[in-house]
Amino acid sequence: MPYMAKDKTLYVCTDCGSTSPKWLGKCPACGAWNTLMETVAEAEGASKNRFASLAPSSEVTALLDIEASEVDRTATGIDELDRVLGGGMVAGGVVLMGGDPGIGKSTLLLQALDVLQRGGASTLYISGEESGAQVALRARRLGMPACEVRVLAEIHLEKILATLSAVRPSIAVIDSIQTVYSDQLTSAPGSVAQVRECAAHLTRAAKASGITMVLVGHVTKEGALAGPRVLEHMVDTVLYFEGDTHSSFRLVRAIKNRFGAVNEIGVFAMTDKGLKGVSNPSAMFLSQHAEPVPGSCVMVTLEGSRPLLVEIQALVDSGGPSPRRLSVGLERDRLAMLLAVLHRHAGVACMDQDVFVNAVGGVRISEPAADLAVMLAITSSLRGKPLPKGFLAFGEVGLAGEVRPAPRGQDRLKEAAKLGFGVAVVPKANAPKKPIEGLTLYPVERVEEALAVLRGLD
Ligand code: TYD
Ligand code: MG
Repeated sequence: MPYMAKDKTLYVCTDCGSTSPKWLGKCPACGAWNTLMETVAEAEGASKNRFASLAPSSEVTALLDIEASEVDRTATGIDELDRVLGGGMVAGGVVLMGGDPGIGKSTLLLQALDVLQRGGASTLYISGEESGAQVALRARRLGMPACEVRVLAEIHLEKILATLSAVRPSIAVIDSIQTVYSDQLTSAPGSVAQVRECAAHLTRAAKASGITMVLVGHVTKEGALAGPRVLEHMVDTVLYFEGDTHSSFRLVRAIKNRFGAVNEIGVFAMTDKGLKGVSNPSAMFLSQHAEPVPGSCVMVTLEGSRPLLVEIQALVDSGGPSPRRLSVGLERDRLAMLLAVLHRHAGVACMDQDVFVNAVGGVRISEPAADLAVMLAITSSLRGKPLPKGFLAFGEVGLAGEVRPAPRGQDRLKEAAKLGFGVAVVPKANAPKKPIEGLTLYPVERVEEALAVLRGLD
């Protein structure tokens, strides 16, 4: 039985779940440091489960006896956003929109609310970071002077909940969840306890009243702590903004979606009139070299249903006694593995070299189909010889030096041919039966073969 403090606050260890009436640096039960987190101790007799209303107890029923209609979606009218949402916003659904500060979360949501409001939905933008006047200014700058979106500048959870039940909007945006605070907790707004507690209350309100709710969460410097990650399990959909703040391109990626596919991305460009969807993004991650340069190899990756051409760059330079391996946008452990395969099976040694690899444009590539392109870029940099103009490669590389096929190879090759690529090294199993116009293919089964093709092309 947990001990209840008189002031109704209680500290729970996030590791072992034991409780303490006051904050301690070290958990008395499990000995972990810095794991005690403030929560509200519910009064005796009250429901101990904050999520009780999300799943009221019911009879055991066979799935076929449960009436379930297709979810009711409202398209936001911004195609790229609808694509990541799986077709639109769902009534009663809670969306978490995460991303670095300044990446464009508020801009995109204000644009979406404006379209929805004009389509007849009743919207409410709750701003905790900017005053009504600042939001109005932003709307003017975005070219929507007659914007009818209603704004509430408020950070007090209890007042927000009261407004939501009085105004009953169909869609509400909370910008941002880190600014909202509840009286029931003594910790500061933005602390893990506040963020979780407020999100739980807002989620409950959304489910109970059928309001579509969007929670904006800044990714904090410390990463996971008090950032949007602590809320991912509570909400229905998690979208993250990605992209280099220095370039104008922004990706919105679905990490979790109870109402649609994940790993679909929306692509936007930040302009002086807000975010504009990029409907044909396949060429935007290519840097435009006038002449081929050493250490650069283009690959085709799949983002959701779309093929994207991405340039992989490598720089191999003589290193010190413990050479460095660094990767941006690609997995570093995978890089170490590829270097070992390259040495063992193709005799290309980088033991005494620093190796840096980068996926151009701030994209993150997690699929193994990048392996072959990474290897060829490294080899090209090491030899100081550029790959031919219009060259591309993709395919997964295994520990035995074999080149494995990538999913939907045909689509990737067609997209590359469409953008004028003429030479491709691909896994044998991905080579199409019918030749693709304008594309010379070199199907390979092993890493050695791929490198032999390169030497042949010199
Ligand atoms: P914002 O939506 O405020 O970011 P977030 O809510 O994620 O913190 O985006 C702010 C950035 O976008 C800011 O640096 C200026 C830029 N911006 C434009 O380039 N064009 C525009 O039309 C707007 C409104 C903002
Ligand atoms: Mg903002």
